[in-house]
Amino acid sequence: MPLTLTRADLLRSANFIAGQWTPGPGALLAVTDPATGATITEVPDSGTAEALAALDAAHAAFPAWKKVPAKQRAQIIKRWNDLVLAHQDDLGKLISREQGKPLAEGRGEVAYAASYIAWFAEEATRMNGEVIPAPVPGRRMFALKEPVGVVAAITPWNFPAAMIARKIAPALAAGCTVVCKPAEDTPLTSLALVLLAHEAGVPDGVLNIVTASREKTPEVVDVWLDDARVRKITFTGSTPVGKHLARRSADTLKKLSLELGGNAPFIVFEDADVDAAVDGLMSAKFRNGGQTCVCPNRVFVHERIHDVFASKLAARVAALKVGPASDPASQIGPMINDRAVQKIERHVQDAVARGARVLTGGERLPQLGPTYYAPTVLVGADASMACACEETFGPVAPLTRFTTEAEVIAAANDTPFGLAAYFYSNDVRRIWRVADALETGIVGINEGVIAAEAAPFGGVKESGYGREGSTHGLDDYLHTKYLCQGQLD
Ligand code: SIN
Repeated sequence: MPLTLTRADLLRSANFIAGQWTPGPGALLAVTDPATGATITEVPDSGTAEALAALDAAHAAFPAWKKVPAKQRAQIIKRWNDLVLAHQDDLGKLISREQGKPLAEGRGEVAYAASYIAWFAEEATRMNGEVIPAPVPGRRMFALKEPVGVVAAITPWNFPAAMIARKIAPALAAGCTVVCKPAEDTPLTSLALVLLAHEAGVPDGVLNIVTASREKTPEVVDVWLDDARVRKITFTGSTPVGKHLARRSADTLKKLSLELGGNAPFIVFEDADVDAAVDGLMSAKFRNGGQTCVCPNRVFVHERIHDVFASKLAARVAALKVGPASDPASQIGPMINDRAVQKIERHVQDAVARGARVLTGGERLPQLGPTYYAPTVLVGADASMACACEETFGPVAPLTRFTTEAEVIAAANDTPFGLAAYFYSNDVRRIWRVADALETGIVGINEGVIAAEAAPFGGVKESGYGREGSTHGLDDYLHTKYLCQGQLD
């Protein structure tokens, strides 16, 4: 089906550097529909030269952008938000086509992305410093907030609009300039967002974006990692890549925000409202086909309610409509690519080989296409299984029975990751006890959808550091400068 946009020019196929759409090195990267493999368009497969040109532009633009009054920066970002919302349908179609999430979710993601842009437009005007009482006479002491400088943003494919929005909006709000490399699978939404940012009045050079294939990405990113002019890296993606970025940027001691892999536990205690817990798991687990970092990856259910929970869940999951992203009835679209489906398949097969049982799903859906996988519920999962140790990143809910609170907390924390955790309970003492004991950056309590622009999003342990959203999300793009003025008496 052809991609028809009200504004056809939102479909871009060039890099954006120093305020110009520039074609790149000649080599091209095909952007495909994950459902069919059909090419949507081609974008530059950039390398060192493009990465450097983008960085030169961002570096040159920084001194002037930093000096633009916060209120004016806020107005530009607010206009960006308005344009994003005005083009919600087109952007939703782009997201859905290149990433595979159903159209309604694509539109929803645009609103979600815009919520971060609107939030940071307002935060721009609140970069307040401090006046510090001086410990000696004749002095005045101040702590001022300053933008860190050029930011390199490396964004993932699972939320092609929201992730770029919650990295770039705070960077612009803080007065930083940006070089961005979007995921190779989903560069088109990012390019459209950059076009709208430019139309909103973001000056030339302040926001630059280069596209590259999986193979050429290291060439682009290494330029930014090695160059001392880049003062911050913000990345959402896998933990191994995050560690590489941290190591490689150590020589120039860049500031880092790393939103990395998760292995979220979802715990249902015996005193929980079972129906609410099923609802919560449906939205937390099956949103975006299970392709989110905060997705529950391991589901622990108390033995007293396990069977009733499992059968209610399986009935809901079996009723999910899987189909093309463009079909308004679809609730789960294709997975991003065949590698993703192979991983899901491996996890389910490994779990079954180790004794888990499939209640529903458990197979590909070849009649729909090569990248569709049936939403799946497994029972009898345990810690030895790949699905308990690695992030499945797909529509699979593996259930494990537990008996005691201490046992389930130990199991939930028995992972190097610490992004999100969820639990359901109606016992107020237990709620605070468990919330304190969980080793994650985010805890959903009787709630499956936890992300919001006003909340700090980020992990602990090997899920990374830094926060996105909220007032903390702006702070990550600022440093504190201390001024001490003497001889005042
Ligand atoms: C992510 O998967 O990294 C982001 C999910 C969200 O914002 O809810």
